[in-house]
Amino acid sequence: MSSIKIFNSIQDFISYRDSLDKNIQIGFVPTMGALHQGHAHLIRQAAHENNLCILSIFVNPTQFNNQEDLKKYPRTWEDDLKTAEANGANVVLSPYFEEIYPDNYSYKINENTFSKVLCGAHRPGHFDGVLSVVLKLLNIVRPKHAYFGEKDFQQLQLIKDMVAAFFLRTQIVPCKTIREADGLAMSSRNVRLTPEGRVKAPQIFKTVTKYHDFEEAKKYLQTYNIELEYLEEHFGRRFIAAYLEGVRLIDNVEIA
Ligand code: PAJ
Repeated sequence: MSSIKIFNSIQDFISYRDSLDKNIQIGFVPTMGALHQGHAHLIRQAAHENNLCILSIFVNPTQFNNQEDLKKYPRTWEDDLKTAEANGANVVLSPYFEEIYPDNYSYKINENTFSKVLCGAHRPGHFDGVLSVVLKLLNIVRPKHAYFGEKDFQQLQLIKDMVAAFFLRTQIVPCKTIREADGLAMSSRNVRLTPEGRVKAPQIFKTVTKYHDFEEAKKYLQTYNIELEYLEEHFGRRFIAAYLEGVRLIDNVEIA
């Protein structure tokens, strides 16, 4: 028998949340599902460091600037529940769009500096959608700790800054990027690659580790039919985004 609690209704979740002992320490892991070992790592850490581990699964339409990408986003609900439970999640919140956006996204969070570079420069409105849904989720769940991966470093930084800007009472915990044995950063989008694409994909990690010149990196990746979108350095890190078989993949590393 499964002991994990599942909520689709935000009102039901809030009643449950309000019934919890006020000293309970909640660790929260927001995701869009299609869970892999990167997510599993966040769940394990949240479960280990808190009394209660809450996972959200919500494919957030407002952060997809490309409708095709939203349509093709992998959805693996049954497997996700198994991964959640096996790694120590106690509760899964998977809300309906209409409930989480009762205003139909008429109110939104808009950051005007760091969200305009890197992914923000290439995906208009993406970080408005991310920050808006994360603010809603943090207000609904009211966790002590929320866990985010360095794989999406720009997202992590923007969320940390939003929490500070709005005096939210959650501590944001950064988690290292989890990689496949060949270096490829784990991502829900990796399953969209063909076996041939999967063999080429680690070149993106190799490039962000070795190259700093955009044109040289572009030429190198072209030999693998990978189209470089950006290669840039900010805050002592190097960031990359590239398209392989129409799938957009990102990565980043610390530079010495
Ligand atoms: P999603 O891509 O599902 O990622 C959920 C969390 O898992 C994010 O914090 C992400 O950085 C982390 N993660 C993904 N791959 C990882 C890896 N290889 N190693 C470590 N952590 C990894 O990011 C989102 O969803 C959404 O934007 C969300 C924050 C849920 C808002 O909708």
